[in-house]
Amino acid sequence: MFSVLEASGHETVVFGSDPAARYRGIIAIHSTRLGPAVGGTRYWRYASLQAALEDALRLSQGMSYKNALAGLPFGGGKGVIIDTGSANRAALFEAHARQVDRLGGLHITAEDVGTTVADMETMRRITPHIAGLSSGAGDPAPYTARGVRRAIEAGLFHRFRSGVVEGRTIAIQGLGAVGYRLARDLAEQGARLIVHDLIPERMQRAADELGARAVPDVVGITADVFAPCAMGGVLDANTIERLNCTIVAGAANNQLADAAAGDALMRRDITYCPDFIANAGGVLSGAFDILGWPMHEVTTRIDRIYDTTLAVLHNAREQRISPAAAAIALAEEVISVG
Ligand code: NAI
Repeated sequence: MFSVLEASGHETVVFGSDPAARYRGIIAIHSTRLGPAVGGTRYWRYASLQAALEDALRLSQGMSYKNALAGLPFGGGKGVIIDTGSANRAALFEAHARQVDRLGGLHITAEDVGTTVADMETMRRITPHIAGLSSGAGDPAPYTARGVRRAIEAGLFHRFRSGVVEGRTIAIQGLGAVGYRLARDLAEQGARLIVHDLIPERMQRAADELGARAVPDVVGITADVFAPCAMGGVLDANTIERLNCTIVAGAANNQLADAAAGDALMRRDITYCPDFIANAGGVLSGAFDILGWPMHEVTTRIDRIYDTTLAVLHNAREQRISPAAAAIALAEEVISVG
């Protein structure tokens, strides 16, 4: 266990238990060098404890990188509540909130996959170290979508010397909270959209409202940009082989299935805009709640995702390394300088 933590550079991992609430949770704190370890709480049915731990470790490290490159005075952390089939959701989240509270501000959390604003309100009754409340910036998805659009524009500029989305074909996988908002923003700017979601009504809505072309599989579609806005791990050897785009830029966390995927994209001359830069709009909106930043500061910082993406793509090209590797190197430098 210690060698795992040493390899990834994690500071602390907390295992929480409350049998009465049927609660089992993990809080992984990757780094507090830049500030409190900020990251969401995931509620998920894991195949094993090992899988839950790996998720918490991977996601908290990703949060360190995301927060560092977003220019936030935050470290990286992540909470995981293992779905054990308990019917008493409030008891689970109260138990997790007690763990968060014991950390005394070292970890500040908000929504993630499987958790809602209502869950955060439940946790807020136990501990102050909660963001993403209805009294704050609210739903992070529109902010995330704005940042993804800026990353797409940077990718377009890097490849075509013009970041204008008008007339570009953009394929979006996943039309949920972020994907649909992104689709709407891009359609308003004159992009041609090709979309896919597992839920047919969402595709129909995009076709009716935005003039999008709905397809049964968006991965191999010919487009300027492929925007993964559904689940992680979408870019593996198989999907990368099928891609027919120039740029990949989307909202999903951990889009690269493994370390080889970044290089495989490079070999295919596909420009990958690193996910943890592109999707930082959500955590930047958390600065409204946690740091009291005015909203215009939040949106200015989100728009800077364009500059950060462009700088990383430029570094990667100069150094002949993948953008993912360049982004990690830059994030580690920011963290080490402190
Ligand atoms: P969501 O749950 O609202 O939407 C996801 C959508 O993807 C759903 O419509 C679902 O039907 C669809 N989907 C799932 N698997 C699919 C597949 N194989 N093919 C096509 N569609 C599929 O989630 P949300 O909030 O829009 O987030 C999207 C991604 O962005 C997630 O990976 C999330 O972790 C990431 N993200 C979200 C942020 C936010 O502010 N909501 C912030 C940072 C990252």
